This record gives sequence, C-alpha cells and structure tokens, in this order.
Amino acid sequence: MGMTATTTRPASVTEAIETRRSIRKYVQEPMNQGDLHEILRLASLAPTANNVQPTRFVVVQDKALKDKLMEASYNQQQVSNAPAVIVVYSDMEDFLGNVEETVHPGMGADQITARAEGLRQNFVNQDVAQRGQWGLAQANITFGFLMLAARGLGYDTNPMLGFQPEKVRELLGLPEHVQFAGIMPIGQRAEEGFPHHRHSVERITKFM
Ligand SMILES: Cc1cc2nc3c(=O)[nH]c(=O)nc-3n(C[C@H](O)[C@H](O)[C@H](O)COP(=O)(O)O)c2cc1C
Repeated sequence: MGMTATTTRPASVTEAIETRRSIRKYVQEPMNQGDLHEILRLASLAPTANNVQPTRFVVVQDKALKDKLMEASYNQQQVSNAPAVIVVYSDMEDFLGNVEETVHPGMGADQITARAEGLRQNFVNQDVAQRGQWGLAQANITFGFLMLAARGLGYDTNPMLGFQPEKVRELLGLPEHVQFAGIMPIGQRAEEGFPHHRHSVERITKFM
C-alpha cells in the first residue's frame, strides 16, 4: 500500500463494485460541487417500498463542523480528513407530514388523495420507533447506492456506523426520531484501501 493512489473512473457498475473499498485517507481538495450534487441525485434514484422516499442527507464540508463530527465518531480521522461527509438518515415523520409529494403526479388529483390517505393509514397505526425501523431499511438501500454512485464518478467513500447518534443529531440539529443509515466520508482516494476479504458464494448461499 503506497502513500498515494490514483483515482480511476470505473466504466461499469461491475467495475464500480470491484474497485470500491473503504478509504480513510483522502486527497486534500474540496469536492467538485457539481459532482457532489450528481452523486446525491443518483443515490436518490434508489428504490423504496411504496416509493415513500424517507431518506434525507446532510452534507458537511465546513472544517469546524467536520472536526466536531469526528469527535462524535470516536475520533476516527477519516471524518475530518475527507473533503465532505454525507450523513444519511431516514425521517418518516417528514414523510408522514408530506405524503402527497411522494405520489406520482401523473395519477391525477383524486388518485393522489386516495393513495396518500392509504399510505398514511399504513403508518399512523405504528409508533414512531416502528416506522423509524421501517424507514431505516429504506435508507440503508440508498446508503448502498450512494457508495456506488460515488465510485461511478471516480470518488471513494467509507461507510460508517461508528459514531454516537445522539451527538450527531445534536450537532446537525436533527430531531430525535430520525434514524441514521450511517455517515459517509467522501473524496478522492489517497490510499489504496484493503483488498476484499469475503465469504465465498458457496459459504453464504443455498441453491434450492
Ligand atoms: C454499515 C457499515 C458501518 C461501518 N462503520 C465503520 C466505521 O465506523 N469505521 C470504519 O473505519 N469503517 C467502517 N465500516 C467499513 C467496514 O469496516 C468495511 O466496509 C469492511 O471491512 C469491508 O471493507 P471494504 O469496505 O474496504 O470492502 C463500516 C461499513 C459498513 C457497511
């Protein structure tokens, strides 16, 4: 593993998957803001059940705030080392307050109202924690898309759950009910990362 690493842009999803690895040292340059926006847009194309789309992002690029986020992440250096950190969470209460906006406009006013009411009924009988868990499952899919979207544009990431959620909520001014899929330092790799070490397909699969 050398001190520097060159960034390549994968030509396919297959190559993006093969070349993604957790990167914890980044080139010290600000993110291209257009690329950052495009990566978030691509991640927003991830599917969700009933198209509920409860995933929300906070992008942290401010140095002082990154440092505080690092503290809340047991001082893991990659948090402040990366030019940006994308915080990914689900907010089902935001969804429930704005159900109509998730229904396809092509359905027409009556259908939108009916469908929105049906969706609300699904969730109002659950408590905040239950629907929080459900929303988190959706946000986790987006979290996966985000890594590959970043790789696809030639960037690298480190998915992270090693942080104190209460502290991160407080730092970012997020309400108590939000559920974190994780935080994700992003930038251009300045290290190679580790080769993949994974179970074989045979170890993890039953073909029936
Ligand atoms: C949900 C999740 C949480 C993780 N949390 C951390 C973390 O807090 N700190 C860290 O250094 N790596 C973290 N990782 C990275 C894993 O250690 C890494 O993905 C795994 O060892 C496989 O290596 P690779 O990503 O290079 O393929 C996390 C990964 C995932 C998927």
